[in-house]
Amino acid sequence: MREQFHRVIAIDGPAASGKSSVARGLARRLGFVYVNSGAIYRAITWRILQKKIHPEENERIADALQTAAITCCLQDNESRILIDDVDPGERLRDDCVNENVAGVSQFPVVRQIVAKKLHEHAQSHDLIVEGRDIGSVVFPDTPYKFYLNASPEVRLQRRAAQGGRDEITIRDRADSSRPVSPLVIAKDAHIIDTSHLTIQEVINEIVGVLEKMGLRT
Ligand code: CDP
Repeated sequence: MREQFHRVIAIDGPAASGKSSVARGLARRLGFVYVNSGAIYRAITWRILQKKIHPEENERIADALQTAAITCCLQDNESRILIDDVDPGERLRDDCVNENVAGVSQFPVVRQIVAKKLHEHAQSHDLIVEGRDIGSVVFPDTPYKFYLNASPEVRLQRRAAQGGRDEITIRDRADSSRPVSPLVIAKDAHIIDTSHLTIQEVINEIVGVLEKMGLRT
């Protein structure tokens, strides 16, 4: 039987395209729950590295995930992830996670786990979900799909301003070229170039589209 979901607004796009700030602000404005799917991929990657499993060892990763307790709970209308009862917090942005998350995310077993968590959230809440494959694969039936982009220069500047080492060009290439659920623009997505827009301007544009589509909040 097909799963019944609440309303889902999908916000996909490459690294540093503005997804997180926009999705969080939009969720507050609409009263929806904010879910960062990348944080779940990052938490899994962090745990795999912590267990000293090589990020290319597909089978060991699958074994480790079979026994891992991955809990997505809600705090202040945002999804928060605990893995084996630990909140990885700031560790999700560690350089080693940045370097390995795209590799770990390519495995179907990992993607299935994350999709299942997202579907569980959508069974009880209206959601804004940001990611790479939310409109194309995880919630293909939602009519509310947005794809944020920005020029490579702007995205590199934004990420550099956040500090840490994050080779977003390499990560984007890996995300766009993997065989399973690559980063693609869903055919019915509304595309927004955020290069020269403020967060508030992007949110306003999205709200305008949603209102025209008749979304009631
Ligand atoms: O830091 P940034 O916002 O660019 O990325 P993120 O949303 O934290 O996602 C980190 C990584 O997780 C991405 O580079 C992808 O490899 C993976 N990811 C994915 O494969 N599918 C998603 N729906 C979300 C993230």
